[in-house]
Amino acid sequence: MNELSTAGLLEEFKARFPRAGKVQAVRAPGRVNLLGEHTDYNQGFVFPMAIDAGIQIAGELNGTGRVNLYSLNYAAKESFLLEEITPSKSNTWVNYIKGVVWQFQKLGLQPQGADLVIQGNVPQGAGLSSSAALEVAAALLLDALHGWGLGAVDLVKLAQKAENEFVGVACGIMDQFASMLGQKDHALFLDCRSLEYEAVPLPLEKQGYAVAVVNSGVRRGLAGSEYNTRRQQCEEAVQRLQNELPGVESLRDVSLVDLSLVNQLPDPLARRARHVVMENARVQQGVTALKAGELEEFGRLLTASHKSLRDDYEVSCAELDLLVELALEVPGVLGSRMTGAGFGGCTIALVPQTSLPAFEKTVSEEYQRRTGIQPEIFVFRPAPGARIITEADPQS
Ligand code: GLA
Repeated sequence: MNELSTAGLLEEFKARFPRAGKVQAVRAPGRVNLLGEHTDYNQGFVFPMAIDAGIQIAGELNGTGRVNLYSLNYAAKESFLLEEITPSKSNTWVNYIKGVVWQFQKLGLQPQGADLVIQGNVPQGAGLSSSAALEVAAALLLDALHGWGLGAVDLVKLAQKAENEFVGVACGIMDQFASMLGQKDHALFLDCRSLEYEAVPLPLEKQGYAVAVVNSGVRRGLAGSEYNTRRQQCEEAVQRLQNELPGVESLRDVSLVDLSLVNQLPDPLARRARHVVMENARVQQGVTALKAGELEEFGRLLTASHKSLRDDYEVSCAELDLLVELALEVPGVLGSRMTGAGFGGCTIALVPQTSLPAFEKTVSEEYQRRTGIQPEIFVFRPAPGARIITEADPQS
């Protein structure tokens, strides 16, 4: 579904909830992670960009004890009582909103009933963070409707907790952070421990390149359980490493010089920890390379990241590996890797603008021939993070 204009969204809202109150609307983008995978929950570094596909919500307080929702994408209605927030098994999209409302309650705030209309164009189950976009949009809108004035980072943390504690995925902070704080034409170099970040310009187009995002069409089925297992393995690796390295609180604290100790851990802990330690180094090297205009080096790091996710962290799958292999066969492509949690979802590739048609043709045809799946290929622009939108919005 294409994204509606703000005016279109507000019209849809009024058609479903015809009252004269003050309707507000927000938009939060999805994200694609350029480098730094499975490092965020190890307090390490990530390098995502917000994309120009997002989720928007129009809403109004309704003076009742109930939240009413309408999803334009699913043409589906839902409703829940504020005093009885429990996860829904059938309509799982509602849980992201419920989780956010519940977190506001846990903070001691008193969310009131509201009517909300939701619409979006972030491909779902593709590892482009449609869930984080929904959580962030809901958090920002509810904050605005109630006039609480929580800061962006507090809303990011609240949205992440909604996913951790209500939806039940132990995700890190990257997706919600990128969705809230992304900047147009930049990627965010984020330190997931201090939450300090730097917006790094991405003048890829000027350099004649694009980041192509290829959706494998494989939904991230295993992601939930395997994701949580990877987290536990990282924690176990830290506990064992503390015998030799007492100052280490997370894998973020393990540096390349300690790799020999990491390699002595039992399998698979050695490989899991090695991925995280080296991936953190790759993010820092990648940001330096980009700033210096060294795209070839950046591309090399992307491909190295993929190999490490495939062999050491074991979160890739045959389809993602095939997409990377096909991408690297296209002349001029500087690097490619899976992006996001893994086990399906998308790959990215650094492709010369002039080779984009050849890239799309070769990758689609060959992938379809070998897997029977037609991949989707996107070229997203680095987009601004979540914000209140009005009819006068230039982007609406
Ligand atoms: C998912 C999680 C993120 C991050 C990535 C892997 O997208 O939501 O927090 O851990 O996987 O890098």
